[in-house]
Amino acid sequence: MATSTASKPCKDRRQVLVMRFTAGERVAHWVHFIAFTILLGTGMFLYMPALRPFAVGEAGEASRLAHRAAAVLFMAAPLVYLIWSPRDFFYSLREALTWGPDDLGWLRAAWGYYTRGDTARMPPQGKYNAGQKFNALTQIITFILFVVSGLIMWFGRGVVSPAIFVGSVIVHDLSVIATVALFILHIYLVAVHPLMRESITAMFEGTVTEEFAREHHGKWLAEQEQERVYRRCRDE
Ligand code: HEM
Repeated sequence: MATSTASKPCKDRRQVLVMRFTAGERVAHWVHFIAFTILLGTGMFLYMPALRPFAVGEAGEASRLAHRAAAVLFMAAPLVYLIWSPRDFFYSLREALTWGPDDLGWLRAAWGYYTRGDTARMPPQGKYNAGQKFNALTQIITFILFVVSGLIMWFGRGVVSPAIFVGSVIVHDLSVIATVALFILHIYLVAVHPLMRESITAMFEGTVTEEFAREHHGKWLAEQEQERVYRRCRDE
């Protein structure tokens, strides 16, 4: 993460931008997003009887090929993150695995916060709040399940026992249900929910306003202030 501070104060607090995601984190996120969307689409061709025409003949061959190609991209995404931004990769991993009293506080206050905008009971959060940590943990677990079950379905036919093969299909399908539920919630929060919409700019531009960071990730912002990390005014 860059380490410079604004040379002069910004005119308006809403104009102060703080760096939230590095280029490596953003590229990994979008590679994961594109791969996941293709995997979901092509997987649905194979899974849903209504989409049967895309699962047979030449269209079926193309769907299966696209699914496998997207699977390679899907497996590459965390490697892009690890190689490009190792410091942030391990920071995010540690954050997702570290739960404390503020996460319990988030769970208690979340309903009032997201439905009524009741900020008074919400404790300051780190880089990721408890909901984001839960999402990250589910992504990590389902990533492992997708890779293991998918590779068995890809290369294991006639090699592993029929029970293991069928078990892999079931694990693959259950992972789809878990990730699609979270995917819908994720899209709703970043694209629709009025309190959270600004969060999406962090995935395009890397930055959020200091005001947003203070309200949603106050503990993380305090850490950043101590480290004097990158910040700039919007109009610079
Ligand atoms: C490393 C990641 C993955 C690998 C290696 C993989 C591989 C495979 C393979 C080999 C098949 C069988 C295709 C065929 O009939 O020939 C399959 C089916 C399927 N995949 Fe994946 N996949 C991966 C990730 C995903 C993800 C992320 C999703 C959705 C979010 C997904 C959704 C599906 C669905 C819905 C099916 C159809 C399952 C069924 O027929 O019950 N896959 N996958």
